[in-house]
Formats: sequence, C-alpha cells, structure tokens
Amino acid sequence: MSVNTEEAIEFLTKSYAELKKDATELQNRMDTIAQTGTYAHTLEELTIGAKMAWRNSNRCVGRLFWDRIQVIDAREAATVAEIQEALFTHIEKATNGGQIRPFITIFKPGNEGPRIWNHQLIRYAGYASEQGIIGDPASVSFTEVCEKLGWRGARTAFDILPLVIQENADAAPIVIEIPPELVLEVPISHPDFPQIAELGLRWYAVPIISEMKLEIGGITYQAAPFNGWYMETEIGARNFADEGRYNKLAVIAEKIGLNTKRLDSLWKDRALVELNVAVIDSYHKAKVQIVDHHTAARQFGQFETNEQAAGREVTGEWAWLIPPVSPATTHMFHRRYPNKIVKPNFFYQESPFERTEITPVRRGGCPFH
Ligand code: ARG
Repeated sequence: MSVNTEEAIEFLTKSYAELKKDATELQNRMDTIAQTGTYAHTLEELTIGAKMAWRNSNRCVGRLFWDRIQVIDAREAATVAEIQEALFTHIEKATNGGQIRPFITIFKPGNEGPRIWNHQLIRYAGYASEQGIIGDPASVSFTEVCEKLGWRGARTAFDILPLVIQENADAAPIVIEIPPELVLEVPISHPDFPQIAELGLRWYAVPIISEMKLEIGGITYQAAPFNGWYMETEIGARNFADEGRYNKLAVIAEKIGLNTKRLDSLWKDRALVELNVAVIDSYHKAKVQIVDHHTAARQFGQFETNEQAAGREVTGEWAWLIPPVSPATTHMFHRRYPNKIVKPNFFYQESPFERTEITPVRRGGCPFH
C-alpha cells in the first residue's frame, strides 16, 4: 500500500515531538519511508494518531478526554468472524456495564481492509409503512438494505439493527445480529411526570460511530469505529425531538398538560426541557454514564485552557459545539472557533449504499443577502 509521504512526515514529526521521543527514532522512521515509500503504524503511532484525530474533531464538544481513548488494534482481523468478534468486544468493553469508556477499534487500512455499513454499531431500525414511519426515520434506507440482505426486523419502534460488514472492498456484505445481551438500553421516565414512562421510549447506552474513516499520517482506515458517551441533548433534543426523527414533542406536551394550541405558550420549549430532564434522570437511574450540556460546556472550556497551555490552537465548528438547548447559557455561544481541518482526523466517506434520508443543507438562502 502506498501512502502520502508528505502527510506521513508531518504526522511523525508532530507526534514524535508530543511524545518527546528522541531524534534518532524519528530519523529511523523517516528513513523507512524514504527507502520503501510506505510505512505501517506502530501501536504507539496508531494510539497517538487516534487521540489526535479526536482532539482535532471540530464538531465534538467532548474533546477534554481526547487523551483517554483506548485503542484496540484489529489490523489483523481478516475474516468476517474475526471482524465480528472485534466489534462485539468493542461494544462490551465500551459499555462496561454502564460506566462507559471511550474506545476505538482500528481495522486494516485501505481497500483490503473491512468496511462497516452501519452509521453506528448500535442503532434503531426505521420502516416506511402505510401508517407512516415506524422506528427511527434516520435509519430507513439502511434498514431496507438489511432487509434486502435477508434480515427481517420485528417492527417495533426500537429494533436494534444488525451489523453489516464487508471483509474488504470486493467482498459481499454480510449481516450479523448483535447478541441482545451485549446491548445496554435505558427506559425513559421522568422524575416528576410518571406519565412520560407510558410512552415506552428507550435509548441505547453507547453511541459508536462506525461510518467515518480515520486518517493518520497519510494512511486511511476505512473502518475505525469509536465511541464516547452521550450528552443528553443528543437524545432528548434531537433523536426524540426532531420532526424528522422520533418527533415526540407534541406527545410529551400532552402528557404534561401543556397548551399545544398556541405556539406562544412555548409548549415546544417546555416539552423539550422536560424531555431532556427525563433523559438525564433515566440514564442516572440505570447507572449509565451521560453528561448534561452545562457540564459538557465547562469541560470544553477546560479543554480550551489545556490546549492553549500546550500551544495549540483550538479549532471548532461553532454550530455543532453549541448545545441545541439553551445555547446562549454556554460560553461557546459567545465566542468563535476557526473551523480549520487539522489531521489526523475523522472524515465522512462515500456511503456503500444509497441513502434517501439525507437532505442537503441549503446555504445562503436569505433573499436579502
Ligand atoms: N448524535 C449521535 C446520536 O445521537 C451520536 C454522535 C456521537 N456522540 C457522542 N456523544 N460521542 O446518536
């Protein structure tokens, strides 16, 4: 496999300086690249590279913990059985009974390596039906792919999707059910409104993004699923609240007796806050780690302080860093971040199947500007 040698040199120079390794070690690596035109990451390089990729993820507010991700080297996994085993292990170790630990499992780089078709290792199915969508609308096209490959979902609102993996770019996709005992989930209830539990809402414990590629020093890992833990707004203000997702604000408002006839009763805002309270309380009761958006904002502030002390610029994507609930109560709202792309980093890659639910974001739509 050939690599982008310029990026390799830049990465090695930066990372070896951070790791305080001596000049001869760096020179040895440079020689390897000069002589062979390629290199394979040592476990140490892979580890610092994955950490830097997290640190450089402009959309992530959880970056204070970038140095604490654990790297599982799965570059030797070649068969479907071995890949499946590595993914199950990831789910188990990351979940850790609710005390969630950030992990990344890194598979063989390039096209000879595997490809994971899931957006996250654990996610709910979505089905288009006569009565509208059952489950998560964000999963409709992937769910169709799974069913075309022979899987059949139970059609509840919370069916755990199977894994779909390819051994390598030329191999056929294989469908694998995740053993239910590996999937920790949290039933949603509210400390003050017991009626909310009647909605039967639930969410899984660990978000494990599996569709992005990881680029380190000129080497591309197409399969490198990684996880942190949830911030409550991801679930309470987006997954359950977005009109294009579970769309639950109106039923929540009804459960807690708000006047939904008038927009200016602010029923949407009040329902949103109570839904987020419910998510936090439910995860706490289930002893599953979660962070609220105020604490996460503080932690991000600490990250900014640390980075400045280390002489590094904090890059960020403002619209993603601010929480969707009460954004102006966080310091991020009141400052700006340069949205520069620094590598190592995670990137989107072309989907291996056709998606219908992603509508392109329209920019500059204001007729007056
Ligand atoms: N927002 C996504 C979801 O709701 C998960 C993205 C990653 N989140 C995280 N806390 N690491 O499923």
